[in-house]
Amino acid sequence: MEKTAVEFKDVVKTYGKGDGLQTAVDHVSFTINEGEFVVILGRSGAGKSTVLNMLGGMDKPTEGTITVGGEEVSAMSDKQLSEYRADTIGFIFQFYNLIPGLTAFENVALVKDIKKDALDAGEMLDKVGLSNQKNKFPAQMSGGQQQRVSIARALAKKPKIILGDEPTGALDSETGLIVLDMLQKLSTEDGQTVILVTHNADIAKCANRVIHMRNGKIKSIKTNDKPLSVHDIEW
Ligand SMILES: Nc1ncnc2c1ncn2[C@@H]1O[C@H](COP(=O)(O)OP(=O)(O)O)[C@@H](O)[C@H]1O
Ligand SMILES: [Mg+2]
Repeated sequence: MEKTAVEFKDVVKTYGKGDGLQTAVDHVSFTINEGEFVVILGRSGAGKSTVLNMLGGMDKPTEGTITVGGEEVSAMSDKQLSEYRADTIGFIFQFYNLIPGLTAFENVALVKDIKKDALDAGEMLDKVGLSNQKNKFPAQMSGGQQQRVSIARALAKKPKIILGDEPTGALDSETGLIVLDMLQKLSTEDGQTVILVTHNADIAKCANRVIHMRNGKIKSIKTNDKPLSVHDIEW
């Protein structure tokens, strides 16, 4: 029996009010199982980042409920959300968001400040293939290497869920594939739940399940019985 990792129930997110009211997410419902590799696909402005930010505890829904691992995130206080972000979520951003004045090792080791039992920074950098880059500063690394540091940083928290918002969006296709391969393997080999937002339909071919959004709504949810290996896609 599959275990549910994430459930969105009738989630709405609006910004502004009166004439300026904008509905970014419009009655969205879906579930994601533990260990799945899910892609949220859609054009710019579809509401993908808003969904991911609410799931990551960085933004709150206007209506509806969001449940993660049986806990209702949408009902959490700010303090509970802060703990939730530290304990449960590993976030990977399009532009890596590393601290420029810290080395790769120091960027990952910083996680210990928000999570005491964080995994060893050196081991995490080994895992993403950066054993010989630990003492480099972000500006001395390629985009792909910086993104791998940010994956190491996310993994160091031992998160229940890894979220990525266009994590290959700033990379050329070759390094993008390396990063994507790593994220797919976290799901297929380590059983990690991985949820990626992208506008790239080719990336979606590698997912177990594709949640397609348009204009803030779910357009379709499709299960891929045979997700492609990252090496079999072209973009
Ligand atoms: N903080 C915000 N304030 C006002 N409008 C926002 C905010 N965040 C997102 N929006 C609007 O919500 C819609 C969905 O945005 P977003 O979730 O970023 O889409 P996507 O990630 O699919 O490109 C867009 O029309 C966007 O302008
Ligand atoms: Mg976005």
